[in-house]
Amino acid sequence: MTHILHRQIGHTYPVAANGQGVVIRDADGKAYIDASGGAAVSCLGHGHPDVLAAMHDQLDRLAYAHTSFFTSQVAEELADDLVAHAPAGIGHVFYLSGGSEAVEAALKLARQYFVERGEPQREKIIARRQSYHGITLGALAIGGREKQRAQFAPLLFETHHVSPAYEYRDRRADETPEQYGARLAEELEAKIAELGGENVMAFVAETVVGATLGAVPAVPGYFSRVRKICDRHGILLILDEVMCGMGRTGTLYACEQEGISPDLIAIAKGLGGGFAPIGALLMQERVFATIAAGSGAFQHSHTYMGHPLACAAALAVQRVIRRDDLLANVRRQGAYLSRRLKERFGNHPCVGDVRGRGLFQGLELVTDRDTKAAFDPKLKLHARVKQEAMARGLMVYPTGGNVDGVAGDNVLLAPPFIVDAPTVDTIVERLGDSIDAAIRTAGVGG
Ligand SMILES: Cc1ncc(COP(=O)(O)O)c(C=O)c1O
Repeated sequence: MTHILHRQIGHTYPVAANGQGVVIRDADGKAYIDASGGAAVSCLGHGHPDVLAAMHDQLDRLAYAHTSFFTSQVAEELADDLVAHAPAGIGHVFYLSGGSEAVEAALKLARQYFVERGEPQREKIIARRQSYHGITLGALAIGGREKQRAQFAPLLFETHHVSPAYEYRDRRADETPEQYGARLAEELEAKIAELGGENVMAFVAETVVGATLGAVPAVPGYFSRVRKICDRHGILLILDEVMCGMGRTGTLYACEQEGISPDLIAIAKGLGGGFAPIGALLMQERVFATIAAGSGAFQHSHTYMGHPLACAAALAVQRVIRRDDLLANVRRQGAYLSRRLKERFGNHPCVGDVRGRGLFQGLELVTDRDTKAAFDPKLKLHARVKQEAMARGLMVYPTGGNVDGVAGDNVLLAPPFIVDAPTVDTIVERLGDSIDAAIRTAGVGG
């Protein structure tokens, strides 16, 4: 009997006992290839000796000092490091302990920025459907996963949602990807016009959509159009790179590949690589300068922000990524993973699409490749895939709701940046078997 309120009550979870490299072992000694980094977290895999050494070293010196009394050397060094490698104009960092916290902080900083700039009427937020920005009330309010929002709707502040950039389902046959992106930009313009450009505070989007759509990048030109629209109306562009950032797509920030720099960026997950809980909000210098010249304090804080042990882990992760040139491996193995997935699933009757960037790849499951019809959500096909994969010693991250927030099944892959080609082969082979078995046991298709 467990006293933990687990994610799924009644489900028996294996006990994770140790982890090394790309493998986690349970208490019975069974090995699982971590092909999803948990939820795109463990970017260096498990037990990385350099990260552990940096954490031990920090622990021996100082585990914790409250940020209303002190700063710490390691927190300062990490901020210097993050700013030095951030998109253009980013000048300061605000520490948090996870992704939802980083998104909440982004929303509050955006609001405070406009209040202090003398634009208190800016209070409206536009985000996108089928997005996930976190589970706390503010992050849930802007998110677009209907299933997660429904029962909490009375507690959520009003957010205005537009379409995601979801080429596989929403680009019309008579449109080029660029034309589709232009149509989405027009939709955003229309939403801004409806709300009044002077009333809109922020537009929030995941640069590459993670858990809800399954590694879906935007179409070419979409984000540069969005950037221009936000600039024209004085709206802050907040990019949620909690999942897709910190190297996952082959560049440190996913928005580098879009050629834009946002006003605020939320990061977490790969920042600490799972060695410690840490998130951060990165901001353009002019946002910082407004608060600095105004009230002089962002009215937001948490007890554990800037935790020295978490900062030591994150700094070590960043240094290992650079020292070992791991982003090159993300691009190389990402391309290989994408090729192998397309070979294995390119003609699979129940896989409609393979997409992604770097070591952030997704598959979309459909009952029919021509109609793209989704499986009945009651079948919980994504959960079956996860179960079958675990039985085969493979961790992947399948989720549902990509079609409309409820229907649709996809499988997300986010292996550690240290993965090699033979492991990629094993991942694809086990995933193929798992998907086939899930479809068989659900008694559908295939
Ligand atoms: C894009 C995105 N934003 C925010 C979050 C929330 O992060 P956390 O679970 O660390 O609160 C997640 C988590 O999956 C995410 O994928």
